[in-house]
Amino acid sequence: MRLVIHDLTEDNWEIIKQNYSNDRIISDHGTIHPCIGCFSCWNKTPGQCVIRDGYENMGVLIHEASEVIVISRYTYGGFSGFVKNVFDRSLGYVLPQFEVIAGETHHKKRYTEEKPFTFIFYGHNLNTEEKESARRYVNAVCTNVRAYVKEVQFVEYDGQPVTEEPISATQPAKTVFLNGSMRSENGNSAKLALQLGRMLRQDYQIVELKKYSGKMAELLSLLAGAESVVLCTPLYVDGLPSQVIRFMECAEHCSGLLSGNIYVLANMGLYESRQLVNLFSAVKQWCHQTHCSYCGGLGVSAGELVGPLMSFIPFGFGTTKAIAKGMGQLAEAIRQGKECEEIYTEPYCFPRSLYIAIANAGWNRAAKKNGIRRRDLFRQL
Ligand SMILES: Cc1cc2nc3c(=O)[nH]c(=O)nc-3n(C[C@H](O)[C@H](O)[C@H](O)COP(=O)(O)O)c2cc1C
Repeated sequence: MRLVIHDLTEDNWEIIKQNYSNDRIISDHGTIHPCIGCFSCWNKTPGQCVIRDGYENMGVLIHEASEVIVISRYTYGGFSGFVKNVFDRSLGYVLPQFEVIAGETHHKKRYTEEKPFTFIFYGHNLNTEEKESARRYVNAVCTNVRAYVKEVQFVEYDGQPVTEEPISATQPAKTVFLNGSMRSENGNSAKLALQLGRMLRQDYQIVELKKYSGKMAELLSLLAGAESVVLCTPLYVDGLPSQVIRFMECAEHCSGLLSGNIYVLANMGLYESRQLVNLFSAVKQWCHQTHCSYCGGLGVSAGELVGPLMSFIPFGFGTTKAIAKGMGQLAEAIRQGKECEEIYTEPYCFPRSLYIAIANAGWNRAAKKNGIRRRDLFRQL
């Protein structure tokens, strides 16, 4: 049986559903919860998500499928908010442990199969560059979930634009940091944002996206008057987390509302910061759609090492040296209201092999702490 993940409206699904009559279908019932970044699907209930909303078994469903077919609205070079949400909740399909594949760190396989994925993107007048960015993105996703791309298709669809109620701007700080992590103040994005704030040496405000779930109009009015918005976000499945994409989709429907400079402060778990390229590209495409100025930003790898280290070692010394330098450049660009290049940083003088060894040992400790055996981390459902 194939697994079809789609974001189509009921009316549009009706038109094509006969093509998938023998398949298992995952669609949007409005109940899916974003991934909260707790890693329980790796170290507490391995292979399964702890959020019980009907989407907790995505890793198992992918494993059981003969093939996965993904139908998504083309959204900033990748998936729509809903489809991305499903992918974020499928993390348990792979193991937490790292290994190096073709010169890059990735997760080990939980299951032995080679899973084929077909991607069908629909959108209006997608150009060559956009199609290329979607291909690059799904290749990265499949490399990361240890599957392979069988086919990528693009379908013309001239949907009606969604129009939203007008939103009026409030008076925010000149610079607003929007923290897109569901770990909110406790996450690595928040720690990096605080450092950037210190370096900025001017008035700024941190806004937690998590607190505005279901209150997008309120959030947008808060951001509308800002001169600069710094999107502080983790990398999830090679792209932006679903909650950030949903925010962007809302902002796009209120086109013209955001007018300031958009900067990115992104962090990730794996070692090679170049894997953030699709995330930067998505923000750039979103800025283009919303007529905001994309101003680049800073990418930080090994976030799970860097975040905790920042509490122990003065920022800018040792491992965080290159990050601090990049952050200085970003702070300067924000202060001057100028563009910054995309800066990709890695832990300074901290070899990848050591990072992998520490991370892999960390999962064993986490298993013990959660009362499961080390071998349970590898369980197949
Ligand atoms: C669902 C999910 C998907 C992730 N996907 C990736 C990924 O594709 N590449 C990567 O390097 N890290 C990935 N990570 C790791 C996070 O980017 C990393 O833990 C980051 O430091 C979290 O930042 P935060 O604490 O601000 O949320 C993922 C984490 C989660 C929970």
